[in-house]
This record gives sequence, C-alpha cells and structure tokens, in this order.
Amino acid sequence: MNQSPDTLTIRQPDDWHVHLRDGDMLQSVAAFTARQFARAIVMPNLSPPVSTTAAAKAYHERILVALKQDLNLQNSNFTPLMTCYLTDTTDADDIAHGFESGVFTAAKLYPANATTNSAHGVSNIANIMPVLERMADIGMPLLVHGEVTDNDVDIFDREAVFIEHILSKLVDTLPELKVVFEHITTADAVDFVNASGPNIGATITPQHLHINRNAMFQGGIRPHAYCLPVAKREQHRLALRKAATSGSAKYFLGTDSAPHEIHAKESACGCAGIFNAPFALESYATVFDEEDALDKLEAFASENGPNFYGLPLNEGKVTLLRSAIAVPQLIEVGGTKIVPFHAGQKLNWQIVE
Ligand code: DOR
Ligand code: ZN
Repeated sequence: MNQSPDTLTIRQPDDWHVHLRDGDMLQSVAAFTARQFARAIVMPNLSPPVSTTAAAKAYHERILVALKQDLNLQNSNFTPLMTCYLTDTTDADDIAHGFESGVFTAAKLYPANATTNSAHGVSNIANIMPVLERMADIGMPLLVHGEVTDNDVDIFDREAVFIEHILSKLVDTLPELKVVFEHITTADAVDFVNASGPNIGATITPQHLHINRNAMFQGGIRPHAYCLPVAKREQHRLALRKAATSGSAKYFLGTDSAPHEIHAKESACGCAGIFNAPFALESYATVFDEEDALDKLEAFASENGPNFYGLPLNEGKVTLLRSAIAVPQLIEVGGTKIVPFHAGQKLNWQIVE
C-alpha cells in the first residue's frame, strides 16, 4: 500500500460475490466488474441454476466470450471463479470432481425461495449434509445466503434467526468446513463471525455499509435501495462498518452487485438487487475514508479474500484519487437501462485509469 492524503495505491482487488447474469445482461454488465477487479466469485443463480460441473464450464465460457466481445476489455485478464448452486439433489461426486478439476471454486447455499432465482435452492439443510461433509473433506468453501424463509419470521430478523437455527448448528457439526457468510447485514452476524474460527469469513457489500433500512422509504418507496438480505437498522450498519474497517482477516469485499433492468425494479413487485459494480471500489473507499481507515482498505479488498480461499494475491495495482466523482442517474449499455447504486450522488474517490 502506498498512501498520501489524496492518493491510495493498493494491490488490485477481487470481488468475492457478484451476479454477472447471462445473455444480453451479461454482455452489458461484465465490463464494469472486469474494469476494477482481477477475479470475481460468480453467483450461480441463473435460470436454470448452474448446478453441475458441465453447466459451470459452459457458463464460464459464455463469460469469457462476453469479455472478448467488449473492445475495451480485449487485453483484460479478468478471471471468473465459478460456483455451484446447491439443490436438494446435488451430487457430491460431481461437485467434488468440479472442485478438484478447478471448474468450481466454491458452492452456494440458497435456502429455497430466499431470493432471486432460488426456487431450486435447498429446502432443508439435512438434505445436503452428505454434500457438505464431502466439501469439508476436500476443503471446498461453502458460500451461504444466510436467511430463513419462514413466513412467520419478520424479514428484518431472518438473518439473525438463520444464525441461531441453522448456521451455528452447521458450524458445530462440521467444524472443518470453510464457510463464507455472504453479504452480512447485522451486528448478530458480526458477533457470530468474530466468535468463530478462522474458517468462517464474511463478505460485506457497499450498500450495507452506506444505507440503513430508512433508505428504502425516504420520501416514498425506493426500489433501488432494495436488495436481499434487506438493509437493517442503523446500529447494524455501524457494526458492519466497524467490522469491515477493523483489519480483521475474516472480512472481505463482496459487492453482491445484482443488476435488474429499470422496469423490473420500478414495478408493483420490484426485484431485489442493487447494481453497484460501476463504482464499487469508489464506494468502499469512500466508507473507509469516512471511518479514517484507508490503511485497512487493501486488506479488505485485496488480501483477506484470496487468503481465505487459499489463492495467490494479485500482482497488479490500482490507484485511487481523492477527487469527487458523480454517479449517473442511469447506466445504458447495449439497450439495457439500469439504475446504479448511488445514482445522482457524488463519491469522494475515483480510480485513476
Ligand atoms: O438482492 C439480491 N439480489 N439478493 C440476492 O441474494 C440475489 C440477487 C439477485 O440475483 O438479483
Ligand atoms: Zn448475491
């Protein structure tokens, strides 16, 4: 790290949780992630989900083709890291083979119906215990969308109840399993991760560092502030900021950038997901600066993730400049219109291209 009051040079970061989508949307959004990050953990919640080694290989290829078709990215060496969508019937041999042959980096647990395209997710964790045991044996990380889906549990309590009823028991049963508690949103999650061993890490999104749940209702209903897990009370946002900037090796960057076209967000039943890829690093840098913790950004963005996954650190560097940048109201690429996170606002840091 090289820091002056107005510039910050860090090792190139990775995004440990992103939705790159497929088809036209993939073509429209992939470049935003590849511009900033050397690698990204790509979520498998396509329709149909990426739930086999063969499907992941094919999706990996489609991502590389999309990048090649983007003239600005022809020299990019961005690496998509693939994940397996766990279902009630996942075949332990197939995912072990996918992991050992380098196709899969991790597997993702979506509780059934927790979020976008999760209908094929796991209906009861007991159904995948043999798969999880196998993953623990071979060192394959489990990525967790940590929310229960019971209708009688308040949406703002779903993460805390998941910790109590599912995650704490899983970690006790399989203490060797590497688990990334994805996009954590509560002080409860921070407490749980802090109290766990080094094989339990967590990603934190830019939006959960910037907004609390009021943002969804500011002067009217705000669909672009809606994602899952939903933003929580201010006390939780503050706990997340403290965790992210603490220097703890357990926390790392995962944007959960989840683009939906404007019409799918601004609708009577708007989709969950915030598109933060275009200004992700700028958004995190702004938070770390506000917390007087710019010296901790490199660990969070570029070191803790690869160290957790057992992957090499990136060699490249990226320089950020303390200079305001205006985020557009709308991003329009290839006929796709998406409202980015921070639309119409200013961020205090920008990337030096
Ligand atoms: O807000 C979200 N959007 N949360 C998720 O877990 C999924 C994502 C998506 O795929 O749109
Ligand atoms: Zn996600």
